[in-house]
Amino acid sequence: MIQPRFITFEGIDGSGKSTQARRLADYLRAQGADVILTREPGGSPGAEEIRQLLLTGDTDRWSAETEILLFTAARRDHLEKTILPALADDKTVVSDRFADSTRVYQGATRGDLRAKVDALHSLMIGREPDLTFIIDMDPATALQRGLARKSGEDRFEDFGLPFQETLRHGFLALAHADPARCVLIDGNRTMDQIASDVAAHL
Ligand code: TMP
Repeated sequence: MIQPRFITFEGIDGSGKSTQARRLADYLRAQGADVILTREPGGSPGAEEIRQLLLTGDTDRWSAETEILLFTAARRDHLEKTILPALADDKTVVSDRFADSTRVYQGATRGDLRAKVDALHSLMIGREPDLTFIIDMDPATALQRGLARKSGEDRFEDFGLPFQETLRHGFLALAHADPARCVLIDGNRTMDQIASDVAAHL
């Protein structure tokens, strides 16, 4: 089996995917792999600047359409400056979110914008991860956890519980639509149980 080298974690806000991305990076490093752990929006200096614009302020600061453009701009910079150079150097890339987040958060929450998301993705990104872990979790528990962090980057948590429930269904639909790439992980367990489940898939 070929070892996947571009691995992403996806899920609703507060699903624990950042912790799992970090734990997988640590696990792979312990196996001797050269790993970079990165995130979206962000992962390069320019994309981190765009992150601030997207995650702070009122829920109506940007329309879903404008968000598609900003997230894709950030992703393009992340890809050019961080992901592609690392892969070319034979490193393993573990990213906390990638294009699936745009498919769900922008493509399937405030109207059906999926065709626009897909068009821009094929025009400007054109790259999929080798493997994606989708951490599935109860939205009410996840939202509580996300808001308790008081990170100051709560713009999407502020859309409320029905929004998180819509997101959950969007991620489940993605997992079912692309089973060759996406692995659905039950996030309603301890961090250790989830981490060993993730590692077992590799
Ligand atoms: P996180 O660092 O907690 O994952 O926060 C990133 C937020 O940005 C999260 O609420 C999901 C949202 N997001 C999108 O709406 N679209 C995207 O394409 C990405 C990468 C993130």
